[in-house]
Amino acid sequence: MAGRRKTTETSNFGVSKREGHDSSKFYSRKLYYNNKGDVSVGSAENTVPPEYVDRILCKSSQNMNELPDSCMHLAVTSPPYNVGKIYDQDLTLAEYRQLLKAVFSEVFRVLVTGGRACVNVANLGRKPYLPIHSYVIADMLDIGFLMRGEIIWNKGSSAGASTAWGSWQSAANPSLRDTHEYILVFSKGSFSHAASTRQDTISKEEFLSYTKSVWEFPAESATKAGHPAPFPVELPHRCIQLYTFRGDFVLDPFCGVGSTCVAALKAGRHFLGYDTKQEYVDSALRRISKEDMT
Ligand SMILES: C[S@@+](CC[C@H](N)C(=O)[O-])C[C@H]1O[C@@H](n2cnc3c(N)ncnc32)[C@H](O)[C@@H]1O
Repeated sequence: MAGRRKTTETSNFGVSKREGHDSSKFYSRKLYYNNKGDVSVGSAENTVPPEYVDRILCKSSQNMNELPDSCMHLAVTSPPYNVGKIYDQDLTLAEYRQLLKAVFSEVFRVLVTGGRACVNVANLGRKPYLPIHSYVIADMLDIGFLMRGEIIWNKGSSAGASTAWGSWQSAANPSLRDTHEYILVFSKGSFSHAASTRQDTISKEEFLSYTKSVWEFPAESATKAGHPAPFPVELPHRCIQLYTFRGDFVLDPFCGVGSTCVAALKAGRHFLGYDTKQEYVDSALRRISKEDMT
């Protein structure tokens, strides 16, 4: 039929052209038994109490009892790494996973159905290498999140001149130097958000770029940000444009100096941040008020 787009069928997910695509055979395979999306977790959205709109709270996000269930549309965050930064405790791996799991369980509770969580993590150490991203994935799935993808953030252009390559020019014990981090993407309950009356703000160029699974932009300077492990505003900016509508609510349960909040404000979204350190909360509030005045 003239003008009709040809329908393709999935034989595997390495195919490049997937317009007009019928994937039903793929999803009915045994691989997807017990792995269905769109499970029912209720679809009502609650209102954020006005005293918590566009605020940063100085408290642990292990308990967000000031928030009702199902009121946030997106969480973007980077957790503490438990590596000896000024705000880190010295936790065992099991205790550390328990801390993150407690926070991400609260994130799950306060996200609306179809809400997304984007978790920026790096892996740690060499002897042996600790695959933190795989622990986060396992724990998020255990909480009930559906995984949507894994973005590799290529920080190569701003990577320091690390020489921690183990044995120089020898197979004795060479080490890899990570020039990437992950942004792990999850949904609560449903893959989609109801879009009918809500306004997207992403441009065509941004959409084409941000839906690719490798992102490339420089890291943020700790000195400039006044925090030992900030992410650049570009990171939450991309997640916000891709996963929220104008006026949506964006949560950062480990908000540091407020990079997610700044990105939300710039994009016309509301924000709520949590951090246990008053000095970071104060810096975040200063950044936000500067942003508000521009
Ligand atoms: C990797 S930093 C986040 C930096 C942030 N993305 C930024 O750009 O500034 C992790 C933050 O989590 C905070 N933190 C640690 N434990 C916390 C907890 N239980 N609840 C809330 N914040 C916590 C730390 O103080 C630290 O600022």
